[in-house]
Parts: sequence; structure tokens; C-alpha cells
Amino acid sequence: MSPTVFEDRDALAAQRRRWREAGERVALVPTMGNLHEGHLGLIAFAKQRADRVLATIFVNPSQFGAGEDFERYPRTLPEDLAALARVDCDGVFVPAVNAIYPDGLPPRTRVTPGPLADDLCGAHRRGHFEGVATVVLRLFNLTQPDLAIFGEKDFQQLLIIRQMAADLALPLEILGAPIARDARGLALSSRNGYLSEQERMRAAALQQTLQRVVAKAQTSTQPPDWPAVCGQAEHALEALGFVVDYLTVRRQADLLRPSAEDRALVALVAAKLGTTRLIDNLCFQL
Ligand code: PAF
Repeated sequence: MSPTVFEDRDALAAQRRRWREAGERVALVPTMGNLHEGHLGLIAFAKQRADRVLATIFVNPSQFGAGEDFERYPRTLPEDLAALARVDCDGVFVPAVNAIYPDGLPPRTRVTPGPLADDLCGAHRRGHFEGVATVVLRLFNLTQPDLAIFGEKDFQQLLIIRQMAADLALPLEILGAPIARDARGLALSSRNGYLSEQERMRAAALQQTLQRVVAKAQTSTQPPDWPAVCGQAEHALEALGFVVDYLTVRRQADLLRPSAEDRALVALVAAKLGTTRLIDNLCFQL
């Protein structure tokens, strides 16, 4: 069935009230649209954990930096609505910019997520996570979900949103959902649409490289020398034509650098192929 489309806050609030009065648990899946199988997997994940699933489609201007792809970010609403109908999503909030930012842009009141937001992607995309946290908090307040689902591909984003929910005592549960990949292992992303066919084939090297980093660490009898292991992997990607922003191993819990005692780790990479910036990660145990 087609999802009910909400464009303004009042209609959304009225629906939200009806669901609450019926005692139904609501899961939120925030997106920027251009939905692919990864997003549809998030909806399926949400459906297993809630009575109602509400998606949002909003290309958030405040999380794009100058010179990034805000203008060319693909906007495909008719296709997105058809895809949401196929997976039985109950509702979709498609706000105009002034429904999210009635105070204008840049937003007057913002969420500053702290040091975690200045590392990794945050170091290469200044202000990005402030924009993400600010819009996500506004979406939470407008939709009042019981739980919200985020893809683990954006691992740093997921941690920042979890941290925001804990620090601001938000009354909802944040869940991460596994990364969806194509047959070659490339993590699904709307930005994959920018890649040529040849680049798309090469892009699978991101995940393969992370797998090699993890295998090396797991089979080594010595504690891993992360800078050396990651440096080699970075060179391998550069040889394939990537411009690497970072390739690193961190602690899963807080993305700090691991000590010899840490076991739950994640290898993360961000790299450009042509003009397309891609990210990927791989969680593992030592
Ligand atoms: O991951 C995304 O698509 C976006 O960062 C999000 C969470 C929808 C906020 O705009």
C-alpha cells in the first residue's frame, strides 16, 4: 500500500497522535531520498520492531559543505514513493526546507556533538555532523518515534546520534542496521549513482581492502601495528586511483584509537574515486 505522504507538520502531528492513542510503536527511518535496497532494508528492519514505520525524505542543506554535492544530490520522489509502497511503509514525511528550518539557514539553534564530530569524516567535512545532529533532532521532535533506525555504513553518524540521544536524554531507542552491499561487496549508497560502471567495479576494492586489514590483524601473533597496516592498505587504494581521506582502525564503542587490550574494533575508510566520495567500514573482534 502507498505510504501516506505528509508535507506539513500539523498533518504529521495528527497522525502521530492517532498512532499513540492506538498504542502503536512507531519506528522512524530518516533518509535523504533516492532510495535504494539499503534504505528498503532499513524499512524492513524497522517493520520487524515496530507497529508503524515512518520514513522521512529531506535533503538537508545544513549538512553539506561549500563545494559538496547538495545541488546535484539526486532527488527522485516519485520513484521513492513507489519503492516505499512496495515495502509497506506506513507514512513518509517530505518537508519543505522551511518546515524544518522555520528560523532560516543556517539554523539559529544547533546541536554541537563534541569531539567525536571533529574526527574522521568530521575532519574532512567541517560542520557536517553538526548539520546532521541538528536536523535529526528536529526530525525526532516532529515525528516523536519510539525508535529510530540508521544504517551502519555511516558508522560515525550512528555513534554521534546515539551520543546525542544519551546526552540530551531523548526518549527513544537508536538502532543500527547492517550494511547492504552489491554482489561485489560495494556498500550501497545514493552516491554510487555518480560512479561510472568502471569506477563502480573498482569501488568494491574499499571493502576488500578493509577485509585484508582485518585478516592481517586477526592472523598476526603480534599486537597489530595499526599505522603500518593501515598505511599499506592506504597505498594499495591509492595505486587503484583512490584519493584516501582516511583508512584507520578504531574502537567500535567510541571511535578512539585502540589500545592493546581493546577487542571490539572497526576498520573505517573514506576515499574519493574521481569526484565521488565513498565511505565504508567493517566491524571485527580481535
Ligand atoms: O544518513 C543520512 O541519509 C542523513 O545524514 C540523515 C540521517 C537522513 C540526516 O539528514
